[in-house]
Amino acid sequence: MVALTQKVNTREYEQLKVIVKKLAGVELGNNKQYLVESRFNPVMKEFNISGFSNLINSIKMGRDKKLIEKFIDAITTHETLFFRDRTPFDALKKLLMGDLGKKRKLRIWSAAASTGQEAYSIAMIIEDINKRNSNKINYEILGTDISEDVLEYAKKGAYRSYEVSRGLPKEYLSKYFDREGTNYKIKNELKRHITFKKFNLITGLYNFQKFDVVFCRNVLIYFDDLNKKLVYKKIASVLNDDGYLFIGSSESLINYSTTFKKQAVEKTFVYTKN
Ligand SMILES: C[S@@+](CC[C@H](N)C(=O)[O-])C[C@H]1O[C@@H](n2cnc3c(N)ncnc32)[C@H](O)[C@@H]1O
Repeated sequence: MVALTQKVNTREYEQLKVIVKKLAGVELGNNKQYLVESRFNPVMKEFNISGFSNLINSIKMGRDKKLIEKFIDAITTHETLFFRDRTPFDALKKLLMGDLGKKRKLRIWSAAASTGQEAYSIAMIIEDINKRNSNKINYEILGTDISEDVLEYAKKGAYRSYEVSRGLPKEYLSKYFDREGTNYKIKNELKRHITFKKFNLITGLYNFQKFDVVFCRNVLIYFDDLNKKLVYKKIASVLNDDGYLFIGSSESLINYSTTFKKQAVEKTFVYTKN
């Protein structure tokens, strides 16, 4: 029987910092022992692991893929909502009314998709434009994340009432969701444009067909400077020369990339390649 709350000692914490950075790119920093304890205790309980040193050994051995999956899942933050920060979606809409919307097949990547709200918000913007215009935007969206659990959720596209009450304009709820019991399910007309799959921004091979738009928001804040630089460089390599990069409202490319320049669009900044 595993004790209720297991404590992490300094040595174990230092080892965990290295492992977490290697597996997910996430920088734990100092004095986050409380976070490590609160996030990993449920995992240790589920897998009947007593003590952080045993957890570390099991992760290092790498045999139990489910454990590794849960371990990464526990230390990453999945907070998201529909139309998060609103202005990036207004900017995207504006750009789509111009040349961006004239692409033969528009390819968009939601690079830390979490439970899917970002990808579905993008699809709703496009569908809304398409409803008003005879020239339809032909598009596909790829949503990726390191965590299988959030991707499963995203694939289902069924949201609870508290989730659809956060950020989602009311009229979109009736337009793009079907009521299913107590949940609200994304309509197939949106879903069919979106694929969700697992991808690790740190260790993944960026062998994608190029994108016209990349949303990489609220994930690199957890990475150290070196990994930030690396990821922005790789994103640039899969973004078309006339493509757009969207980052989180508290994020900046200063110090991390010279490949991109800022462009003001609709009360926010988007990034284009130099
Ligand atoms: C805070 S959410 C952001 C979701 C959305 N982009 C937004 O802004 O609302 C961050 C997501 O990044 C994912 N993540 C963390 N490290 C990652 C990595 N190395 N590769 C891919 N995804 C990662 C987490 O699993 C989590 O779902």
